[in-house]
Amino acid sequence: MTAEWLSRIPFIISHQDSVPQRVERSDVFEIFPIKIGSYIFTHEHKTCLKQLCFDIIDKYRNNSEYSIQSNGYLTHYFDPILNINSSLLDYPGFETFHTWIKRCSIDYINNTLGCDCGDDVVITQCWINECSKGGSQTPHTHKNSLISGTYFVNFIPEMHAPLTFIKPTMAGTPYLELERNNTTCSNDSETSVKPYEGALLLWESHLVHAHSSLSNNADKRISISFNVMPKTLPGIYGFKLIKI
Ligand SMILES: [Fe+2]
Repeated sequence: MTAEWLSRIPFIISHQDSVPQRVERSDVFEIFPIKIGSYIFTHEHKTCLKQLCFDIIDKYRNNSEYSIQSNGYLTHYFDPILNINSSLLDYPGFETFHTWIKRCSIDYINNTLGCDCGDDVVITQCWINECSKGGSQTPHTHKNSLISGTYFVNFIPEMHAPLTFIKPTMAGTPYLELERNNTTCSNDSETSVKPYEGALLLWESHLVHAHSSLSNNADKRISISFNVMPKTLPGIYGFKLIKI
């Protein structure tokens, strides 16, 4: 058999057991999990904050200095892109919420991610989102931030779109795409978390997230989003963050 003849043979992998062996799975190890933190605001504070957000939306809806529409359905209030001097968290009535989201962030970073951010963090940006029926948020990440969060101010689980997270992929990884016989967290490319009113979700800022227009079947999906950085980054190249 010459080398030239061998090169013309199709590459075939074929194997059949004459006596099929029993397969015994001893274990499955789940590695590199992604952890989304979930926290609940007290009922009393939740109600006050909801009223405050509705008041802000009514006051600034048509004020282009404080609100911006990213498409026909989604409006952001106090969005960092507006370059206004005041932060949403400086607005009277946000004091308790500000302290609470900082405490939740510290707990998530230190106890869920297992990193040490010390005992203080800086909320670097914070804004309100209002999405109407049929509206969506395109997949995006939050740059220059360690963790990000969304608090659900006005949310009806049966009517409003859940928050969808897209599974991170390793660039350049070769793979074969097979037909699926069921959907599991191993083969799903995205997963949705259905929050409820008064819930805060926290995640690492590099995670791509979005919400769909198909499942947003009511007006006034209102949420507050924010970014978080540790106050002090340790080590010889570390630095202290001061919000100006
Ligand atoms: Fe976001």
